[in-house]
Amino acid sequence: MNTHAHNSTSTIGPLVAAPTEVEQQGTEFRSFDWSISRRLLGYMWRYPRMQWGIIALAVVIAVINTLAPVVMTETIRRTIEQPEQWTASTGLSPLAGVLIGAGLLLALAASYYIVMGARIRSVSRMTERVVYDLRSEIFEHVQRLDMSFFDRTKLGRILSRGTGDVEAVRAAIAEVIPRTLIHSLMMLGLFGVMVIYDWILSIAVLAFAPLLWVANNYFQKRMAWAYRAVQESFSRLTANIAESVSGMRVTQAFARETINDHLFRDLCLLHRQRNMNAARIHGMYIPLFDVTSQLIAVVIIAFGGWRVAEGHMSVSDLIGFLLCTGGFFISIIILAELYNTTLQAMAGGERIFNLLDTQPRITDAPDAKPLALAPRGAHIVFERVHFSYTPDKPVLNDISFEATPGQAVALVGHTGSGKTTIVSLIARLYAHNTGRILIDGNPIESLALHSLHSQIALVLQDNFLFSGTVMDNIRFGKPDATDDEVFEACRSLGCLDVLERLPDGLNTDVGERGSNLSLGQRQLACFARAMISNPRLLMLDEATSAVDTFTEHKIQRALARLMENRTSIIVAHRLSTVRRADLILVIDHARILERGTHSQLLAQQGHYASLYSEFVRLSTE
Ligand SMILES: Nc1ncnc2c1ncn2[C@@H]1O[C@H](COP(=O)(O)OP(=O)(O)O)[C@@H](O)[C@H]1O
Ligand SMILES: [Mg+2]
Repeated sequence: MNTHAHNSTSTIGPLVAAPTEVEQQGTEFRSFDWSISRRLLGYMWRYPRMQWGIIALAVVIAVINTLAPVVMTETIRRTIEQPEQWTASTGLSPLAGVLIGAGLLLALAASYYIVMGARIRSVSRMTERVVYDLRSEIFEHVQRLDMSFFDRTKLGRILSRGTGDVEAVRAAIAEVIPRTLIHSLMMLGLFGVMVIYDWILSIAVLAFAPLLWVANNYFQKRMAWAYRAVQESFSRLTANIAESVSGMRVTQAFARETINDHLFRDLCLLHRQRNMNAARIHGMYIPLFDVTSQLIAVVIIAFGGWRVAEGHMSVSDLIGFLLCTGGFFISIIILAELYNTTLQAMAGGERIFNLLDTQPRITDAPDAKPLALAPRGAHIVFERVHFSYTPDKPVLNDISFEATPGQAVALVGHTGSGKTTIVSLIARLYAHNTGRILIDGNPIESLALHSLHSQIALVLQDNFLFSGTVMDNIRFGKPDATDDEVFEACRSLGCLDVLERLPDGLNTDVGERGSNLSLGQRQLACFARAMISNPRLLMLDEATSAVDTFTEHKIQRALARLMENRTSIIVAHRLSTVRRADLILVIDHARILERGTHSQLLAQQGHYASLYSEFVRLSTE
């Protein structure tokens, strides 16, 4: 093996992207577990007719594979070894007998072709259905989980449930059941035939079976580990390329190209070494089995030949025996392989079921009622609300306030003071710990989530646009809106001109996460998305913090239109947005420090007043 100057993992620097979790899945083993198997089987038995069809086809295949050596042997025995008896009993010539045997074999081959084709098709049909069911179930389930789940769980982990884990399960469904059935039956059938031909030789040959099973299992496991290492280094490689390309600006600006070249070469080298290691194990494994089957043939020829010479066995018995051992040992090897596939699927299945068993912490109460629609804004009350994301770290402490219908309440405070958290609690993305949150007089947990969310519009700082056109994104707020309604929403916000000036107007593709649009354009599109959903409660979380002066003006006007006749909760850095609010809450370290209107708070000369003078100083500088 090549000993390069830096050939171990440890020389790979700290600034190399970690392997993505996605690609690491699917090569793990887990001990056999009946409850997981039963549950996976349950997915297959949703299609009982297909399942029975697959089982029937497997049985037919096993029978054909067992019959073929028997037909060959019996043809040789009856027409070549004992030609006189053949002619005497059938009146046919030995040649005719040989042709009949050949015809039978041909018929077996033709039926094998047909049945095997049917098996492959029906197994795929079944597998694709199960994979479809599993994937859609995972997706639907994940969409219903609450935000605290997404805080706890890395994106890569969720992705791999729907990709690598499902693929591991797919392999098991496609392979394990039909092939286990075929090869177990073949093993039994062929061994039965061997015993009939010569039971003493059968026992001698049988001694090889456990050896073969153990050796095969050993190499299969080592292969899987080696393969897993290859996948891991490959995933580091791709992650590194992805990170390098997306960070190219920084790399070039800091002239880090040469260092990065070295890091990348190290990763390539590691990958090369791991591939070589896998090849080495493969190289030990494949010839070993060829040699083993030779060895078995040697035993059969030597021991069987002796028994033929001694008159305990006929030549055709010996031929039949040789023909059967091939299929017999291949079945053992395949069964060992299938066992390992099963264990890998166990690991995937277990993770999938863990995800599917994760219960959302926020669900509709059994007696949840919809939030009644009303022509005016929503009425929000917080009464001594406490909340923390993690048990030991309070994020909201004794928060009480009221937003009457149509009012605008502004939340002001330093980063990390808890403003976004208040917005999240009103949308019930998290459940508060103690105190009461009332929406139109109803405790928030008594309301049906869907009806609550359908009356709220949320506009965020890093506004999320989905792939598609501007029009598609605005329509996200009201899926059945006509084009005219979209135009009308934009017009009423006074931003139609800005969006129509885009290269394809409202049909412009927004690009990945809206990258084809400027910040201000994205913001306006999001306002239109909120506008068209006609919410009773509007919440803006720093939605106006990152725009230039020209769009700022547009946005302020659009905002004023958007807030008309609605209750709104506004989190803003720019105190220009806050000034007109009916109530301003100054949040500091999880508490409400000051409250009042702009002029009241200025008069208090407290925290808000100093924030405001700072703001005025900065914006006039
Ligand atoms: N999902 C979360 N999990 C745990 N802690 C969080 C989470 N979101 C916010 N926090 C913490 O809660 C505190 C308040 O955060 P946030 O409401 O986002 O503040 P603000 O919006 O005022 O900047 C911060 O200390 C923050 O670190
Ligand atoms: Mg925030």
